[in-house]
Amino acid sequence: MTTGGVEEKNKKKKTACVTGGNGYIAAALIKVLLEKGYAVKTTVRNPDDRAKNSHLKVLQALGPLEVYRADLDAEGSFDDAVAGCDYAFLIAAPVNLTSDNPEKDQIEPSLRGILNVMMSCVKSGTVRRVVLTSSAGVVCIRPLEGDSHVLDEESWSNLDYVTAEKPPIWGYVVSKVLVEKEALRSAQENDISMVSLCPVLIVGASPVSKVYTSVPAALSLLSGDEAAFEMLKCIEKTYGGVQVVDLDDLCRAQLFVAETETASGRYVCCGFNTTVVEMARSGHLLEKPRVCLSSTKLVREGFEFKVKTLDDTYDGLIKYGKTLGILPW
Ligand SMILES: NC(=O)c1ccc[n+]([C@@H]2O[C@H](COP(=O)([O-])OP(=O)(O)OC[C@H]3O[C@@H](n4cnc5c(N)ncnc54)[C@H](OP(=O)(O)O)[C@@H]3O)[C@@H](O)[C@H]2O)c1
Repeated sequence: MTTGGVEEKNKKKKTACVTGGNGYIAAALIKVLLEKGYAVKTTVRNPDDRAKNSHLKVLQALGPLEVYRADLDAEGSFDDAVAGCDYAFLIAAPVNLTSDNPEKDQIEPSLRGILNVMMSCVKSGTVRRVVLTSSAGVVCIRPLEGDSHVLDEESWSNLDYVTAEKPPIWGYVVSKVLVEKEALRSAQENDISMVSLCPVLIVGASPVSKVYTSVPAALSLLSGDEAAFEMLKCIEKTYGGVQVVDLDDLCRAQLFVAETETASGRYVCCGFNTTVVEMARSGHLLEKPRVCLSSTKLVREGFEFKVKTLDDTYDGLIKYGKTLGILPW
């Protein structure tokens, strides 16, 4: 899929490398960059996988987009993709939230990968800013007493706490903390300007046709997908809430921290804070039924319903639930 000469033709355009172009976030960022007039170089593990990469063909209609083969596991793999770029958006990363062996499937490959790609940025000599997509998991998983905590970039998740408590996605959290710290260290050591963005649960449409994590979780209240709903609840439990950001907002934030020369350090990227319960009540669910069934005929013929509101229903139902032991006294 790589096409020669794109760099030549677009010498005056700013060039950005986006790693992992078949991922949910990366594909959306590529679209935003092309629309802003950037030349984009992206990477995928297997350029021959048509099903996974078909959206990239479509995106090529928006502007100069080159696709390179690169694997985080292979040293030097990102050299060609990063060469000549002004910006490098590091988004590709193992995402194995439910692995039985997080050390092997999540933590080790994540660390190897970030070092490889950072070295490619250093070697390029052209990258003026690296933007790492980290995670809110790097910020908020630490011992916190009580409620109403407001955390920002100053906060780091506590690895002793995470490895002792082992929440369901602990391996992911550990990998994200280590990756962000390692990237910051490498940037400092090699005198590269790097900014990390810590996004919360990301929702919104991306050019990719398959999404594995955030969107199914956010939609689980509607879809009835139990595994995805478990993930949503797990996020709430682990993160102390469901913090949400729109995908387009995230992409614009990524571009913002790349282009703003004075940007530095880490940034929490959160649109709003909510809960599973609030989501269940939100506008995505019908406030009023779309389909009503009518018992007018019964009533007209002399029958009278006694329970006519939701509140009425709950009064009796909660009492019954308590006697059954389904609800606590
Ligand atoms: N989605 C969210 O709500 C959210 C929130 C906060 C942070 N994040 C972070 O954002 C990043 C991207 O997330 P996403 O939701 O876009 O996930 P995604 O759709 O699963 O994308 C992950 C990408 O990483 C690539 N990748 C995995 N292992 C690789 C390897 N060894 N070498 C090269 N590429 C590899 C995948 O390529 P293949 O297709 O070849 O596997 C894929 O392109 C991750 O770091 C994630 O932790 C996501």
